[in-house]
Order: sequence, then structure tokens, then C-alpha cells
Amino acid sequence: MPSLTALRNLEPEQIQSLVDRAAELKKAHNTGKIEKVERQATVGLLFFEDSTRTRISFEQAAAFLGHRYVNFSQSGSSLSKGESLKDTIITLSNSGLDIMVIRHRCAGTPLVAERYFSGPIISAGDGQHEHPTQGLGDALTILERKGGIDGLKVAIVGDVKHSRVARSDAWCLSKLGAEIRFVGPRTLMPGTTPKLPGKIFYDLASGIEGADVVICLRLQKERMNEGLLASTRQYSKLYQINRNSIKHAADDVLIMHPGPLNRGIELDDWAADGPQSAIAAQVENKVFVCMAAIEWALGRAPIRRKAKVKAS
Ligand code: CP
Repeated sequence: MPSLTALRNLEPEQIQSLVDRAAELKKAHNTGKIEKVERQATVGLLFFEDSTRTRISFEQAAAFLGHRYVNFSQSGSSLSKGESLKDTIITLSNSGLDIMVIRHRCAGTPLVAERYFSGPIISAGDGQHEHPTQGLGDALTILERKGGIDGLKVAIVGDVKHSRVARSDAWCLSKLGAEIRFVGPRTLMPGTTPKLPGKIFYDLASGIEGADVVICLRLQKERMNEGLLASTRQYSKLYQINRNSIKHAADDVLIMHPGPLNRGIELDDWAADGPQSAIAAQVENKVFVCMAAIEWALGRAPIRRKAKVKAS
């Protein structure tokens, strides 16, 4: 059974099939035609880092499919007594989970967990690596609002360097045929640009020129301490998406943001709540891509998993 830890590793057909299945599940849910699974699985939601949207989406997704879910949070767990990540994963593996959904602040944690758990793993965001269900949900949202993705100009604006959303969105949307532009200050762009599928722009006006979709990234305020930006005010002046700056994009541009938002910094109230915003749809669609991801990873007849026995 396949894990889902990065969109970079998937073929375009696999991404398309996950997005299409999410759209089918949404339609079935909205018309009361969701079929519950025949064999109920236990989905472990292991959130070592805070989350609102992704955690709730996976809880809803598991419940809508007819699975059970159990929550694990870093706070209140034995990690606070010094238990290691490895021992935590082994312990949870022996707790009757069929699948693990993992969010962690360190890139690669889902791959570490694969060493100790024999079932499928879905990444719910790992460090600066990837956030696959965000990428899939954003693809579904664009597909619904634009009717297709192939040939669209998509500008991803902000802190690309530290953003797992930027990576998953870029891999996902480029594999589906979109042209990707990364827009932001030089200090917030990755040093290894050839590894990402898109062109870099340091100037907002030229970066979003004619864009069909503008995806704003959260400015990670903790980066202020690293001296990468002079100030949030300066950032907003140069890169905020608002009624004025968006004029450079296409007239029917779609404005997106994965959340959580820093209103007044990455975008203003008009951009966040106005007619061109797709932020509410992004949240709604995440539930259905999480359903598609769970179904894809588990298949239709989940088998009870045991921990892998590993000496190291
Ligand atoms: N976009 C996103 O991952 O939001 P959460 O951190 O609230 O899950």
C-alpha cells in the first residue's frame, strides 16, 4: 500500500487521479452518496506540530469514509519525558493503527517513520520539505474555479525558501501543466533554484504580470529573528497582494493562501475576503483530498499492521 509523502515523486497521472477522486468524493458527499468502507481502519493522526486546517480535514475525512481516528499531539505525550521520535513511532505502531498521518517540523520525519511502521504513511507537512494534501487541495480548487490547470500562469508569492506549501504546489501544478513563477525577496528564495520547477522574480509587478492564480505564502514571523527581512512593513510594501497590486495580474485572477493568514501582511482584507479569493474553497477541498489520500494509501480492505522490528 503506497505512502504519500511528496508530490515530487508522483507521476502526473497519479496526481490527476487523486484530484479527480477528491472531486468525485466531494460530489458524493454533497449529494449524500458517500459509501462507507466495508472494513473500518484506524487512522492515527500524529501531529507533532500545531495545525488547524489539516488536522480537522483528516478527522473529517476519516469519519466521512467510515474509519476511526485517534489523535496524538506532542503536548501531553511522553515526548515531554524524553521519549525519542523512534520509540514514539514504535509505540504507536503497536497501538493498532492501520495508517499514520504525520505532521512534524523536521523535513523527512515521515520517511523516518516508515522505518518503524509497516503501514502506509501520509505526510501532513514536514518541515520545509512538502505538504502533499495542500498541493492536491489547491489543484482541486484551481480546477473547479478555472476549469483546468494546463497552461495557467501561477505565481507563488512570499517566503518560498521556507515553505513546504510552495514546494508541493509547484510540483503538483507544474506536473499538471501550469507555468510556475516564484516571487519574493532574494533572502526568501531558495539557493538551489534549479531543483524547483519555476522561474524566480524579485519584483511583484513583473512576477504576477498576467497571472491566472496568485498563491500568497504565510510570512513566517519567526524568520524575522534570522535577519532575512528588514521588517514586515517593508515586506508588505513590496509584496502584499491587495486591490492595487493585483492589477498586474489577469482580470479574473484567483487569489489563494494556504493559511494561517497574517492579514495586513501577505494580503489585505479585500484580497482575503473579496470575490476573487478562493481561500474558503481551499479549506473545504482539503477534506476531500484527505479522503482521496486515505483511500489511495489504504486501498479498500485495510489490514491490521504491526510495528517493524528494527535494532537501530
Ligand atoms: N495550511 C495548513 O497546513 O494549515 P494548518 O497549519 O492549519 O494545518
